[in-house]
Amino acid sequence: MADNAKLFIPVLLGTPRKNRESEKVARWVFGKIEEREDVETQFFDVCDFEIPHGEYGQEIKDLFPEWRDAMTKADGLVIVTPEYNHGYPGSLKAVLDLLLREYVHKAVAFVGVSAGPWGGTRVIEACVPMIRELGLAMTFSDLNFPSVKSKFDDGGNLLDAAYEKRVQGFLDELVWMARTLKWGRENVPSKFHS
Ligand SMILES: Cc1cc2nc3c(=O)[nH]c(=O)nc-3n(C[C@H](O)[C@H](O)[C@H](O)COP(=O)(O)O)c2cc1C
Repeated sequence: MADNAKLFIPVLLGTPRKNRESEKVARWVFGKIEEREDVETQFFDVCDFEIPHGEYGQEIKDLFPEWRDAMTKADGLVIVTPEYNHGYPGSLKAVLDLLLREYVHKAVAFVGVSAGPWGGTRVIEACVPMIRELGLAMTFSDLNFPSVKSKFDDGGNLLDAAYEKRVQGFLDELVWMARTLKWGRENVPSKFHS
């Protein structure tokens, strides 16, 4: 039986860098999710996670109840990450490492951001083994923002109309995965879901 209940899919902005271009991308994608009637969302920013020095991972997840509770409830996640030396920012990894069980059998979609011409394809590829270990299920429809500085005006408005169609395909695929996995979590026996 199809479940038409609204899905909950937060957005995580993966860099704390001052003047980050990725924030424009993340806010734009967040706005596009907010426009959908089949999804509720919430914006998370790694900047807002003050991870104490010397402590790490699931042991301190209760210091971040909003993130913990959001991912417990979530059906999926959108991660917006810049490419830093072909990898992901350490802050993104530190935030993702706060949880584990909460992610299992949930969909995740990636938005890659770069100054160079590859649009974060390399950072997204670098995320694959890490995401797999977290139990998240990755879509194959990424959204890429190469040469990101040229993509937005000073007010954060996207200048390339082609992204309107791209983002709908990106989100449709994520919603399909998230809804399918939600059905699976609720209907197919697994030691991970009671
Ligand atoms: C430490 C560091 C490493 C970077 N490495 C790359 C890279 O490997 N490839 C690339 O296209 N851009 C690279 N950049 C540029 C970023 O992609 C660029 O800053 C872009 O605007 C997205 O990151 P931002 O959200 O921090 O602005 C790097 C930037 C930093 C700060």
